[in-house]
Amino acid sequence: MASYDLVVIGTGPGGYVCAVRAAQLGMKVAVVEKNPTLGGTCLNVGCMPSKALLHASEMFEEAGHSFAKMGVSVSAPKLDLPSMMNFKQQGIDGNVKGVDFLMKKNKIDVLKGTGKILGAGKVEVSANGSTQTVETKNIVIATGSDIARLKGIEIDEKRIVSSTGALSLEKVPERLLIIGAGVIGLELGSVWRRLGAEVMVVEFLDRILPGMDGEIAKQFQRLLEKQGFAFKLGTKVTAVDTSGKTLLAKVEPAAGGPSETIEADVVLVSIGRVPYTDGLGLKEAGVALDNRGRVQIDPHFATTVKGIYAIGDVVAGPMLAHKAEDEGVAVAEIIAGQAGHVNYDVIPAVVYTTPEVSSVGKTEEELKQAGIAYTVGKFPFTANGRSKVNQTTEGFVKVLADAKTDRVLGAHIIGREAGEMIHEAAVLMEFGGSAEDLARTCHAHPTRSEAIKEAALAVGKRAIHM
Ligand code: FAD
Ligand code: NAI
Repeated sequence: MASYDLVVIGTGPGGYVCAVRAAQLGMKVAVVEKNPTLGGTCLNVGCMPSKALLHASEMFEEAGHSFAKMGVSVSAPKLDLPSMMNFKQQGIDGNVKGVDFLMKKNKIDVLKGTGKILGAGKVEVSANGSTQTVETKNIVIATGSDIARLKGIEIDEKRIVSSTGALSLEKVPERLLIIGAGVIGLELGSVWRRLGAEVMVVEFLDRILPGMDGEIAKQFQRLLEKQGFAFKLGTKVTAVDTSGKTLLAKVEPAAGGPSETIEADVVLVSIGRVPYTDGLGLKEAGVALDNRGRVQIDPHFATTVKGIYAIGDVVAGPMLAHKAEDEGVAVAEIIAGQAGHVNYDVIPAVVYTTPEVSSVGKTEEELKQAGIAYTVGKFPFTANGRSKVNQTTEGFVKVLADAKTDRVLGAHIIGREAGEMIHEAAVLMEFGGSAEDLARTCHAHPTRSEAIKEAALAVGKRAIHM
């Protein structure tokens, strides 16, 4: 029987990164993966394919709408959807091969099949009717998450789709109805709107992007509406009639009331994701779940069974690839006897639309709720030189600092490249920096990042260009 120091179940960003770090620390490691390819949700049906389509569809829209004003005259772009899907697939393949390479480079055994925990120290791997059992000193559960479903609305991945189906539609739907104004709904809604779909988003709450700063979300909604998105907030879809050629969605106020019917060609269900633990044998092994079906862990990622740990989407916390990765590194270091740690106060979040939305740390709503006195510094891209010359002036930067100490508690950006810009605030926050520190840091000119410096200056009411 093969024997390891560590067996990781699942090769998403949590699992494969954990395996690499453990191998770097001298452990003999195996990963178990039930999918034909490594990389998990993120590489195969999540982060990567969605970003490929966001990029390609943005280029399509830019070519059609923005080139002429810069004096670049091209004929109206034509959509070749199969080629765009091929572009997406090439991106997936390249990244998946990269994970294969990392496994080989770090001498990590890849066990293809479904992993089941037989108890501390034993994992059974089944594939195509055959099983093998391996022994291991430690197990990390990194089995990720699955789509959340709506009762009575069956996902067929053709007309009623989850994100997975929405990443592979064979033609642009004339009318796309999206249930849930979260990250997936707004990113994939952007893709299909740019390619020609009429997009309507039905959201249960009275705002989009719950969890993001409210002021940013409001401006984001206005900008998306300007692009052609229609929103129905405080509303729920209770049924979808699939009997005819056109889908008929029954929609009613979240609080109850008279219903209406919305016609659509495709319905995207994007109401969140749920932890995935099917077939892992957790109950029999004595690994406890919390009240939301997530694997219960202590602050050191240890489950209720000694030698079994869990990370990523299958445990509590934001369902983000970089959170899973950082937990993967931390748990490998903890198993190796080091002090692995994740700072949950500084985990950036990005919505990769146009404009992008990014955020790190506390929102204004969270600070108010916690009773923390804070100062706000804001700076619009309309006053940023680089944005003006590029004519990409939508959005603003917002820096939130402790009113007494000036320590930066949160940063929020809406605007082009916001996802790349947020990290200077993250680094500053990791070092406990102040708005004054940020404001006195020399920023290259002309860059969009100067808007961050100006927002930090605005905390002290001394922005220069406003
Ligand atoms: P996963 O990536 O879900 O990987 C789990 C792996 O475990 C899978 O490969 C699965 O096959 C395997 N597995 C499960 N059970 C078993 C078993 N019993 N035996 C063997 N293998 C098993 N996050 C971001 O940070 N940025 C983004 O831009 C982003 N975009 C997204 C877009 C979409 C459309 C979706 C759906 C998600 C997106 N996410 C994004 C979220 C991100 O994909 C997840 O947070 C991340 O993949 C979680 O990593 P993980 O390692 O915990 O699990
Ligand atoms: P989400 O949690 O971001 O948004 C779901 C939305 O659906 C919420 O606004 C919620 O209020 C709404 N909702 C729930 N039930 C509803 C109902 N019955 N009717 C109408 N609205 C309803 O979940 P989403 O968008 O499905 O994404 C899942 C996860 O994937 C997220 O946790 C996110 O972190 C991750 N992800 C991250 C991305 C990124 O980092 N750029 C991109 C895509 C996904």
